[in-house]
Amino acid sequence: MSATAAGASDQVDHEGKRGAFSSRRVFILASIGSAVGLGNIWRFPYVAYENGGGAFLIPYLVALLAAGIPFLLLDYAIGHRYRGSAPLSFARMRRGAEGLGWWQVGMCFIIAVYYAAVIAWALRYTFFSLDKAWGSDPEAFFFGSFLKAGDPGVTADVVPGVLIPLALVWGAMLLILALGVQRGVGLTSLFAIPVLVLAFGALVVQALLLPGAGSGLEALFAPNWSELASASVWAAAIGQIFFSLSIGYGIMITYASYVRRREDMTGSGLVVGFSNSSFELLAGIGVFAALGFMAQASGEAVGDVASDGIGLAFIAFPTIINEAPGGPVLGLLFFGSLVIAGLTSLISILEVVISAVRDKLDTTRVTASIAVVAPAALLSLALLSTTSGIYVLDTVDHFINQYGILTVAVISMLVVAWGIRALPGLADHLNVHGRPRVGTAWRLFTGILTPAGLTLVLVLALRDDLGAAYEDYPTWLLVTFGWALVAALPVIAFLLARLPWRAGTHLDGPPPDLAAAEATQTDHAALAAAEHTEGGAR
Ligand code: PHE
Repeated sequence: MSATAAGASDQVDHEGKRGAFSSRRVFILASIGSAVGLGNIWRFPYVAYENGGGAFLIPYLVALLAAGIPFLLLDYAIGHRYRGSAPLSFARMRRGAEGLGWWQVGMCFIIAVYYAAVIAWALRYTFFSLDKAWGSDPEAFFFGSFLKAGDPGVTADVVPGVLIPLALVWGAMLLILALGVQRGVGLTSLFAIPVLVLAFGALVVQALLLPGAGSGLEALFAPNWSELASASVWAAAIGQIFFSLSIGYGIMITYASYVRRREDMTGSGLVVGFSNSSFELLAGIGVFAALGFMAQASGEAVGDVASDGIGLAFIAFPTIINEAPGGPVLGLLFFGSLVIAGLTSLISILEVVISAVRDKLDTTRVTASIAVVAPAALLSLALLSTTSGIYVLDTVDHFINQYGILTVAVISMLVVAWGIRALPGLADHLNVHGRPRVGTAWRLFTGILTPAGLTLVLVLALRDDLGAAYEDYPTWLLVTFGWALVAALPVIAFLLARLPWRAGTHLDGPPPDLAAAEATQTDHAALAAAEHTEGGAR
């Protein structure tokens, strides 16, 4: 009975027009699609290795439970209760807070511009793997023949080998996003996540069978307990969890706003959090098994061949593929996994922007998709398919992901907890359908401990960047694509927040039908108990 009632009300109210996930399963898979990305595969293994190896699992688990999951649930609660894109949800909480949402939208737009480029490289490398097109010197190939990278700076020399796959990535984005929340975003994840798990699982098995794999795992998991005393190790754990779970970007707010009212958001958050970390651990095993093989083949120590990011994917892996039995298969699985993991994350970043545009302007899905994807694609093609793409990418990535995201995350948590005092209402909201219930501990974490932890990460990063120029890049590059960009975004965001909402937008509190339901049914405990029994019957 309840299922029909809930389904019917979802049809008639505003969200029918915004789009919705057809089921909790699709929502969970879309969330996992966003969370599992390049960061899981090329960032986690090295962060763990660098920060205490096996001992890192302790700060990592603490960060997951004390910062990651509470923050994920906060994002879910905001989106699910206020049923809007990031700016609309914040505006409904408190009109003056709308700018926080646009700040996140701005960052997502920028991240999308370069994230797409890495996927395009991986796409190209998937095919390169088949005949090991990089030859015997993958490093020279990557920077020279492939990217044609010159000196750090900005040039207009287009590299067709990057331009074409990048255009393909953007074409795919337009197609998927124009199809809408369920048929585009949802179905892509429903299909892509199982394929990704199978492909990556096969890669891990193949890597574990390589000679020397064990020494790689020993290097990864050998615990260095003394590292636990270092603040930077804890900061690394928080930073990794945060980036990896895609929290604080407005993504999880947006996705949660597409979930039917009567769903268990708390349980969903736990599933997403643990799935993401499981994938991350699996990636650590696969990557270090392969690095162990590489070390043995070249007679070096694992520590000398270990790396992360671009170096791991586009230099170390090609070297491994050159040497390993069944190299082309390994390459296909590795780069194919990067492409799939990256695409579902890119979809989620762009959805934040599209959703905000649709809420604000009342455009159709297709118009909004074109309006967002076309400029992002043009910018991306202009900046990143040239010989200087890699430097712009590296600078923007470093600054946006450190300062931009962490600052908006800390500020928004403090505003929600202390400015708007929204946590009790959000906790009640989660507890109506969610199990386990969240309570004082959750409010303590989201209101105090998580922002404090994130501030620590921010301060340590700032100390490094003020101490030395990042990667020794020229100052003007760091200022333009780093500091200035980070500082301009909140200004632009609060200007966007001054534009009027489209006619008929409900502000001031959750959408009217939910507010009405709450007014008639103020006893959440009773409501929760009643829903719980119904839930069992569904
Ligand atoms: N969570 C993604 C990953 O682990 C990265 C990401 C961050 C994607 C922010 C979208 C937005 O790679």
